[in-house]
Amino acid sequence: MQLLLRRRGRALTQWLAIGMILAASAALIGCHVELRKTDAQLGLNAQQSRGRRVYDQDCYRCHEPYSTRGKEGPGLEGLYKKQYLPSGMPANDERITDVIIMGKAKMPSFNGKLTEQQLQDLLAYLKTL
Ligand code: HEC
Repeated sequence: MQLLLRRRGRALTQWLAIGMILAASAALIGCHVELRKTDAQLGLNAQQSRGRRVYDQDCYRCHEPYSTRGKEGPGLEGLYKKQYLPSGMPANDERITDVIIMGKAKMPSFNGKLTEQQLQDLLAYLKTL
């Protein structure tokens, strides 16, 4: 009887492990589907599409756009839809521009690296996340 229970326990743990692996892969595939989508499939207008190029070039290596999973920095999914940034500051143009221009902890400053137009395009794209 004891042996039977132990075996059942092990089977249950195995199923749980398999379930967790499946859920994790689904989440990964989910955000990768968004990444592969074209600008049109994401419903981006011209400015947001230009912003996406800036993001892919300057932000993507540290921030996942379609996930809250952390990379070098926090995932930015839903950035403007939440009231606060990961640091607790309000999520608005002013604060987000400050973070981009001044940098923050391990995040580099983009002061002088983006034109005003590129910054505006980038903010327009961030609002779609
Ligand atoms: C080299 C990696 C790196 C790059 C490139 C980078 N970031 Fe970050 N970012 C970080 C890290 C690390 C943090 C967390 C900073 C902290 O500890 O508060 C962060 C934080 C943030 C935050 C949250 C700030 C807060 O107050 O919580 C935003 C928004 C952000 N980054 C946007 C961007 C954008 C937009 C770009 C592209 C222009 C970018 N980042 C490029 C590493 C990076």
